[in-house]
Amino acid sequence: MAASSLLSLMFLISTLLLALSSLSVAPNPTTFTIPLSPIFTKHQPSDAIKTELNSLASSSPTRAHHLKHPKSKPPLTKTKVFSRSYRAYSISLSFGTPPQTISFILDTGSSAVWFPCTSQYFCTDCDIDPSKIPLFIPQLSSSSKFIDCQNPNCARISSSNFLSDCQGCNCSQACPYFFSYGLGSTHGLLLSETLDFPEKLFTNFLVGCSIFSTQQKSAGIAGFGRTPESLPSQLGLSKFSYCLISQRFNDTSESSDLVLYRGSSSDAKTPGLSYTPFRKNPVSNNPALRVYYYVDLLKVIVGSKSVNIPYKYLVPENNANRHGGTIVDSGYSYTSMGKVIFDAVATAFEAEMGNFSRAFVDVEASTGVKLNLCFNITGLKFEKIKFPELTFEFNGGAKLELPMVNYFVPVDVGNSTVACLTIETDRTMDSEGPAIILGNTQQQNFFVEFDLENDRFGFRKQTCNKK
Ligand SMILES: *[C@@H]1O[C@H](CO)[C@@H](O)[C@H](O)[C@H]1NC(C)=O
Ligand SMILES: *[C@@H]1O[C@H](CO)[C@@H](O)[C@H](O)[C@H]1NC(C)=O
Ligand SMILES: *[C@@H]1O[C@H](CO)[C@@H](O)[C@H](O)[C@H]1NC(C)=O
Ligand SMILES: *[C@@H]1O[C@H](CO)[C@@H](O)[C@H](O)[C@H]1NC(C)=O
Ligand SMILES: *[C@@H]1O[C@H](CO)[C@@H](O)[C@H](O)[C@H]1NC(C)=O
Repeated sequence: MAASSLLSLMFLISTLLLALSSLSVAPNPTTFTIPLSPIFTKHQPSDAIKTELNSLASSSPTRAHHLKHPKSKPPLTKTKVFSRSYRAYSISLSFGTPPQTISFILDTGSSAVWFPCTSQYFCTDCDIDPSKIPLFIPQLSSSSKFIDCQNPNCARISSSNFLSDCQGCNCSQACPYFFSYGLGSTHGLLLSETLDFPEKLFTNFLVGCSIFSTQQKSAGIAGFGRTPESLPSQLGLSKFSYCLISQRFNDTSESSDLVLYRGSSSDAKTPGLSYTPFRKNPVSNNPALRVYYYVDLLKVIVGSKSVNIPYKYLVPENNANRHGGTIVDSGYSYTSMGKVIFDAVATAFEAEMGNFSRAFVDVEASTGVKLNLCFNITGLKFEKIKFPELTFEFNGGAKLELPMVNYFVPVDVGNSTVACLTIETDRTMDSEGPAIILGNTQQQNFFVEFDLENDRFGFRKQTCNKK
């Protein structure tokens, strides 16, 4: 306590001196400069000054708060995030000695980190030619070590995922894994490698060397989820943040930053962000539920009206099969809602969009996604239409007020143009898992922060595309 108040004091002094010293920048040659550092390294302020400064500090609560946290910690690293035609966002990471750079999907909805690996990489139902994508070649890296089955990390990584080929095996050979996703899966051998950032090398990083995948993209997956095998856990991150640029559905070179912070920082909030606490993961035999970042969504507001959603769907624990709750998933494209919630939201939109007729059209062919709520806007300019506002309100009062392009998309169907809500619903209802998945389409042009140290999710509206 004493140390911290002394620190506060010194910070206040340095702030004051800094303010004073800025005067010396003025062109006036008679301005004098106060020497900065000697004052607090050589002399302790007198008690009288201390008391005065303390009362000054305590008179302003916001100020006092800043003083407690004199320095925001510099990030470990920054890396570029790209919008991809496959409806997700990618980052590049370098592994090995010498480093090989591979593209990864930035995925807060899973935890394992893996890359397409070896010249034998095989991918079925993938829309990609594996011979044309960057592959990691362990033979070209002097730091590649295959993890054997008896290594405790093998059981740890395998047991935190759906299936493991290693369960019950007594082999001394490499540790096989099988990771399955909402769509597709990947299969390979667990590797210990060096993860290279310009600022720091992380040795013995556990990464999957995938040899066989189904329904994957021209990239690996970097799992940013909540379990120990994820990238944030392995690096000991205290916080990470990103800002997803507008989706282009093509592979442009435009990018924004993913910023990683390491080590304990403080509980200081980032200016301008609204925060909501992460919810504890539900206790479940299904390991996937331990990976997710659950937040407490309390209200969905369409126009000016709050949609009536049964509370049991807003929390993960209340149902026998743990269907419920809301997660934030950067690897998921459009937001998904369980049918009961979707129907309530759709009804609210229909009421607010009285001037437009609902169009029952098959938009799947042109969008690749089954969108269930479309309005006929034939003959009108999409940009000119005033759609009802859509707001998600979270525990703690944080409100995610979505820009229109984050939840409506124009689609040409035959001679008609329709505007469809970019929220999908799974027809198979009440399956175990979250009832609402906040996908990357809804996160576009928001700066979002996953504050792992303080267990909270922060966001603010921001234009992410750098000019
Ligand atoms: C593995 O080895 C242990 C001890 O050596 C033995 O008790 C166990 O039955 C073996 N398991 C299998 C599947 O062979
Ligand atoms: C990507 O899409 C945007 C908007 O649709 C377009 O302006 C741009 O030219 C496209 N870029 C490439 C490389 O296809
Ligand atoms: C519907 O049309 C009426 C009359 O043309 C107009 O006054 C009203 O603002 C429209 N409502 C919406 C939601 O566009
Ligand atoms: C949209 O409305 C137009 C008339 O304005 C009509 O000709 C067309 O069939 C409608 N399309 C759909 C998909 O409902
Ligand atoms: C709609 O398009 C078809 C061709 O795809 C055309 O034959 C038909 O006349 C068009 N209908 C209208 C109402 O424009």
